[in-house]
Amino acid sequence: MSDPVNYEKRGAIAVITLTNPPVNAIGHAVRKGLFAGLDAAAGDASVTAVVITGDGRCFSGGADIGEFGRPPAPPTLRDVIEAAEACPKPVVAAIHGVAFGGGLELALACHQRVGDASARVSLPEVKLGLIPGAGGTQRLPRVIGAKRALEFILSGDPVGADEALSLGIIDQIIAGDLVEGAVAAAEKLAAEGKPPRKVRDLAAAGGTPELFAGERKRIERRARGQMAPGHCIDSVENACTLPFDEGMKKEREYFERCRDSDQSRAQRHVFGAERAAAKVKDMPPGTRPRAVESLAIVGCGTMGAGIAACVADASLPVTVLETDPEALEKGLAAIATNYEGAVSRGRISREQADARMGLIRGTNDYADLAGADMVIEAAFEDMDLKKEIFRRLDETCKPGAILATNTSTLDIDQIAAATARPGRVIGTHFFSPANVMKLMENVRGAETSHETIATVMALTKVLGKIGVLVGVCDGFVGNRMYYSYTAQANFLLEEGAFPEQVDRVIHGFGFPMGPFAVGDLAGLDVGWRVRQGRAKTRPPDERYSPIADRICERGRFGQKTGAGWYRYQDGGRKPLPDPEIEELIIGVSDDLGIERRNVSDEEIHDRCIYALINEGAKILDEGLVQRASDIDIVWIYGYGFPVWRGGPMFHADRVGLDKVSARLAQLAETHGQELAPAPLLEKLAGQGKTFASL
Ligand code: COA
Repeated sequence: MSDPVNYEKRGAIAVITLTNPPVNAIGHAVRKGLFAGLDAAAGDASVTAVVITGDGRCFSGGADIGEFGRPPAPPTLRDVIEAAEACPKPVVAAIHGVAFGGGLELALACHQRVGDASARVSLPEVKLGLIPGAGGTQRLPRVIGAKRALEFILSGDPVGADEALSLGIIDQIIAGDLVEGAVAAAEKLAAEGKPPRKVRDLAAAGGTPELFAGERKRIERRARGQMAPGHCIDSVENACTLPFDEGMKKEREYFERCRDSDQSRAQRHVFGAERAAAKVKDMPPGTRPRAVESLAIVGCGTMGAGIAACVADASLPVTVLETDPEALEKGLAAIATNYEGAVSRGRISREQADARMGLIRGTNDYADLAGADMVIEAAFEDMDLKKEIFRRLDETCKPGAILATNTSTLDIDQIAAATARPGRVIGTHFFSPANVMKLMENVRGAETSHETIATVMALTKVLGKIGVLVGVCDGFVGNRMYYSYTAQANFLLEEGAFPEQVDRVIHGFGFPMGPFAVGDLAGLDVGWRVRQGRAKTRPPDERYSPIADRICERGRFGQKTGAGWYRYQDGGRKPLPDPEIEELIIGVSDDLGIERRNVSDEEIHDRCIYALINEGAKILDEGLVQRASDIDIVWIYGYGFPVWRGGPMFHADRVGLDKVSARLAQLAETHGQELAPAPLLEKLAGQGKTFASL
């Protein structure tokens, strides 16, 4: 293995280069190398200053996340950072690409920071359920002030070179060769002969009690249930009120508390799971994704318009087809209105909005799709209609073009069979609103080629989404699990609960909303139509709750009609319990001969959450996902499962599969065989194993 840190001298300047691909994560070997390099530079009388830089694509992606579960081996990142700051000779950080987390913390301890135009800096620890633990919360407020530091640390989002410069995180942007520029900056500092400027000696400005109180209030809702954001605020406050060393001591305590928490374990799992999801296990080595330089969308309804905007957001040209000119005009107008909203909220500039709109071209004519590299069909959920569209696309589109469908339920193989290119047919299930939601279920049919899969997985990343490869089944992964979960929620109503109790319990678990509030937001009519379509094929002995249908029969389709599971006052969005619905639910219980009883919160939790896990186990057993963590990603990014619980399968592993299985078996005895533990769950529980072990 090559040395992960390189030390060389350029004249009187020592250049220490991190060479630990792919992202120069600062693991143990890197820390040792950095420490030794700083020591060598300090002890070498011919060295007047030091430059620290990164080889390859970036400065550093931060501390090595893989080491968090292990006991820290010295020197720690803090030791290295202290050595850099305490170095008697000026130390300059030269940043290209990302300087994230520990990478930025190292740079903040250097006496000067220069970067090139590609530099991006952030402290993303909060996204891993952590706080920056190597001085980030103490040094950053001393550089950019408490207010901006709080925003920076609580969002975990990166800022680019220009903003970093204007904030003072970077002192200079180098136009030519970065290391040469950094060496020149180091020579200049050395020539000035002043003692190195240490961030620890600065005061953190702007830390008023009102600022911290306001931020605490803000995260109460935004980061409900999470430990790390609160500690980020505590620690930045300490930077303003305590001496540096005391603030550092506290920062360490908070960091360790977070690091050792289930929440951070869960969020670190999600980080790995996200990256694992991108990998296709049976992909033959050397498979190359095809270039996708232009796309077309069939259908400009809510989904089609959202997907078109998402493609334009990624700076790709897109042709949108609607055979009805009026519908096309309406769809394009909706996209334009959406961009206008983004401009007025300051999320994008007018130029960006115009450029994106300029990439979207409407047409009524299939012939205009002939040149597209890939077409995504987003028409109405109707098999015959989709088959007809795919027949036409197959005739019209160039031979290599990929034909994708945004179906959320239909059989991809049947759709593919309508074409002469089933290898180039795939599902790309976007979630609504498609330009906002990060998840894509990429559905692999029996004939879908590896090249097609590789192309779509690569495109997913270009679109800024997280793609999970799934197999064909009714509802795919997410919706199939959602049916099991909401089925239990509905049965609980028949047995004695009301919507607000179920929603309160699920919200308390950490979902942003319970299933009934979600139903009202999404609209109840779509599900009603799907259920009507399935009525004929539903097994007669399957338990079925008629409550949702009866609500729809009254024209209550959710928020858009001002009433659904709840009522909504004066066009508001706050769900209010409705006596009419309570009466309706009690009526259903009577009709079904169910004697209503007190349903405990615990039962609601177990029946809903464990039903979800159980369906996940069946999906895993059927080989419809590649790994348990793929299911976690679907539920976190598609359905709002609390990220700090790591997703349903990770959560089940933490609870213990023996407990989950035993509770399901117990529930099944009283409440129906739908709750009987899945064979895979029972098997793993019996063996004392986890889903992650598969
Ligand atoms: N520690 C260990 N491994 C890391 C890492 C870190 N801090 N940052 C990235 N990696 C690994 C990834 O797991 C991935 O590994 P894989 O190839 O085995 O899947 C690889 O580096 C490339 O990362 P990826 O995210 O796929 O590349 P990217 O170019 O899209 O993004 C980063 C690079 C650095 C921006 C991104 O990985 C990132 O944000 N990393 C986390 C930064 C962070 O949270 N640091 C604070 C740690 S406390």
